[in-house]
Amino acid sequence: MKQGILNFFKKILNYIEPEGIPFPGSIIYNKIMQNFDLYDLLLHKIAKSDLISNIKGTILDVGTGPAYLPIYITQNNPACKVIGLDVSSGMIRLASQNIQKANLLNAIYLKKGNVSKLPFPDQFFDFIISTGSFHHWKLPINAFNEIYRVLKYNSEAWIFDAINPLPREEFLELCQRFGKLKIILFYLHTFSEPFYEPQKIYRIIQKSKFEKGELELFSILYRINLSK
Ligand SMILES: C[S@@+](CC[C@H](N)C(=O)[O-])C[C@H]1O[C@@H](n2cnc3c(N)ncnc32)[C@H](O)[C@@H]1O
Repeated sequence: MKQGILNFFKKILNYIEPEGIPFPGSIIYNKIMQNFDLYDLLLHKIAKSDLISNIKGTILDVGTGPAYLPIYITQNNPACKVIGLDVSSGMIRLASQNIQKANLLNAIYLKKGNVSKLPFPDQFFDFIISTGSFHHWKLPINAFNEIYRVLKYNSEAWIFDAINPLPREEFLELCQRFGKLKIILFYLHTFSEPFYEPQKIYRIIQKSKFEKGELELFSILYRINLSK
């Protein structure tokens, strides 16, 4: 019965917007993010990493959602410009409100578009990042090829998402620090698109123009490091 109701809502959402998180999912996601201290801490940590802190050019954030990452990046590094891309119009509207509230309209630009067909010229970006969006991409190899195309030579792309399964030691440590409920809820949030296992990720990378890449554990997430 419960599964039937979930499938019904999934069908409606897929009809309204076949990819991404449409309205009203965008509002729910934004509310969850405002109260998910662990994830917020991770976004801050990513934004303050040495590499991102020193970028002077243009960064692309793929599947930007409510745009918290671009906000943290530009607050920490006012020398860079960030373009947040999302396939969902609902998310773009919400991101725009959040950017306006943060008073960063002149540093962050938003673009509606799909990662499988990026609306940018070749070699346009100095760095590409994505958090929590990869498991939604319907054509992951195409997506990586598009990221490769728009990335400048000698530049990097970091793709963060939740690891499946999370190593037991990490899981226990995180439960102790942030509470079991939050960590379990985080894993349950993808009822339609499950997180990838490492072997599957390596296969996607090998089939893409990047050919090689590394996976590094980063709290409840992993980071895929891709270089061009
Ligand atoms: C779970 S949210 C993550 C948002 C944000 N990056 C964060 O870390 O909070 C995933 C986002 O990816 C977007 N998305 C999903 N598939 C996409 C695609 N094919 N192209 C661009 N954006 C996509 C969704 O609309 C959603 O806003």
